[in-house]
Amino acid sequence: MPTPPVQTVAWAPSGALRIVDQRRLPAELVMRDLASLEDVAEAIRTLAVRGAPAIGVAAAMGLAAAAAAELERGALADAARARLFIEAGAATLRGTRPTAVNLMWSLDRMLAALQQASGAPAALVAAMREEAERIRADDVAMCEALGRHGRTLLKDGMRVLTHCNAGALATAGMGTALAPLYVAKAEGLDIEVFADETRPLLQGARLTAWELSQAGIPVTLVTDGMAGSLMAAGKVDMVIVGADRIAANGDAANKIGTYSLAVLAKHHKIPFIVIAPSSTVDRAIPTGEMIPIEERAAEEITQVAGTRVAAEGARVFNPAFDVTPAALISHIVTEDGVLCAPYHFDRATLPLPPA
Ligand code: MRU
Repeated sequence: MPTPPVQTVAWAPSGALRIVDQRRLPAELVMRDLASLEDVAEAIRTLAVRGAPAIGVAAAMGLAAAAAAELERGALADAARARLFIEAGAATLRGTRPTAVNLMWSLDRMLAALQQASGAPAALVAAMREEAERIRADDVAMCEALGRHGRTLLKDGMRVLTHCNAGALATAGMGTALAPLYVAKAEGLDIEVFADETRPLLQGARLTAWELSQAGIPVTLVTDGMAGSLMAAGKVDMVIVGADRIAANGDAANKIGTYSLAVLAKHHKIPFIVIAPSSTVDRAIPTGEMIPIEERAAEEITQVAGTRVAAEGARVFNPAFDVTPAALISHIVTEDGVLCAPYHFDRATLPLPPA
């Protein structure tokens, strides 16, 4: 399997959570070590660490790191206090971003592991670290499986359009939507990528263009509004995106602008592929209408790099995600394989995460 071009989340030697601070890319590759709940929550809220799987993994590792730091400074006097700290920490982290269900999925795993653990505070903290490491390793393995399955859809010479960043920077491993591109590259295929810049926070321009370039995959940056004309000109063979939450019927929430791409792809008869691990699937939500959509600050739209560019006076609407109906999705790729519509993400078709 190819090595990811960057390790987005890792354990620091001190036991802290080490992240790549994605707010600083592509200007500089800066790592930050986080060992308090406040710092982990702030990093997730401000998109220092972002992308659905990476958020989930960072929350689990950050919770474990924060509990270890509390233990070390003598603040967890007994098991009851340790449990309280971990449960309250999980509640805080759960509230940082609402759409990516990976966050809830991994915190549920941490709380289930806490329930099963027993003994003194040190034993509980050790159990947290072990579960967080399993969540990290599972994400790496899921990315590899997504890469293998997604690769089967690619042919030499294809031109793929992607939106936002669903690569190594969005996961603990080699990404979701971009994973098949890394596998194809390792096998010697020539795949060309069009990366939407992805307004307003420019994950495509700043992150996808950066990580694909690091990996030596040819990438052409386009503004979001160019996708239609590129498709009309016959320059796009496939659209591949990630997801933040997939409802049981296959409706998929992803970065704002994804839905428009799916409509355009349908019109131009271009396959539209969603690639995501089972940690992104919310079996409790029957359709995409029930997916909570995060709204972010107006300044993300009115300002560019801290400078106001929008006229004063207009109201601003800034939803971070939209929902693509399953009917527009040609295939959903999970670690189980390449799925075709109609999608039924119930217990029979998808394994539940370990309790
Ligand atoms: O707001 P972000 O940058 O966290 O949004 C990320 C996306 O929309 C990604 O496409 C999605 O999380 C899939 S990541 C593998």
